[in-house]
Amino acid sequence: DENGVGLSDEDLRAEVDTFMFEGHDTTASGISWLFYCLALHPEHQQQCREEIQGILGDRDTIEWEDLGKMTYTTMCIKESLRLFPPVPAVSRHLSKPVTFSDGRSLPAGCQAAVSIFALHRNRDVWEDPEIYDPLRFSPENSAQRHSHAFLPFSAGSRNCIGQQFAMNEMKVALALTLLRFELCPEPSRPPTLLPQIVLRSSNGIHLHLKKIH
Ligand code: HEM
Repeated sequence: DENGVGLSDEDLRAEVDTFMFEGHDTTASGISWLFYCLALHPEHQQQCREEIQGILGDRDTIEWEDLGKMTYTTMCIKESLRLFPPVPAVSRHLSKPVTFSDGRSLPAGCQAAVSIFALHRNRDVWEDPEIYDPLRFSPENSAQRHSHAFLPFSAGSRNCIGQQFAMNEMKVALALTLLRFELCPEPSRPPTLLPQIVLRSSNGIHLHLKKIH
């Protein structure tokens, strides 16, 4: 720090733990649900594949500049983060009372939680919220939406520090997978939502991968 004091072993362990957990479990959940959504929606899967093929041409590796061009793919990732937010809720211990704009308040000492999962399926904001429709995130369709209607990475001063990294990681994982495989669902074993700290499926997410020749 500014006084030249380093991290203790315990501090270091806490930092490693934070980045291992926040940076691994979350993206694993995000990638799994993304693959699940695209397996169920082959038309969107194919559109992503064509976009990626168009950007990469003959290359089979991804360059930094490619990531910014994946417009349709980004909309598909956001739509799966909406339906299956890897962090389904965030909570806080109130160190002081809070008064909301409608006059209601909560006392200090409360535990307050925001369900990101419920927010993302709020019927007042999202038409047919259960339907997977990446076009919700086109510039035209997002323009009028409240900036806090979609919060997979939370908001405010403690929002996700890794969100750009996470988006890029998901783009790379998806792009390299779609170039090689077709994702198909396994109808006999649909996932069962299990909202722990990270959104999981209690029976796994079973998909078929068909090699593309
Ligand atoms: C799809 C992937 C990810 C999602 C959905 C996600 C979501 C979130 C959310 C909702 C929070 C706020 C938690 C809270 O307020 O209680 C958060 C915080 C955080 N995330 Fe992520 N995250 C993802 C990936 C990552 C990655 C890849 C990293 C690091 C490389 C990372 C590092 C962090 C850290 C360090 C915090 C704490 C920030 C702070 O408290 O100031 N996350 N993340």
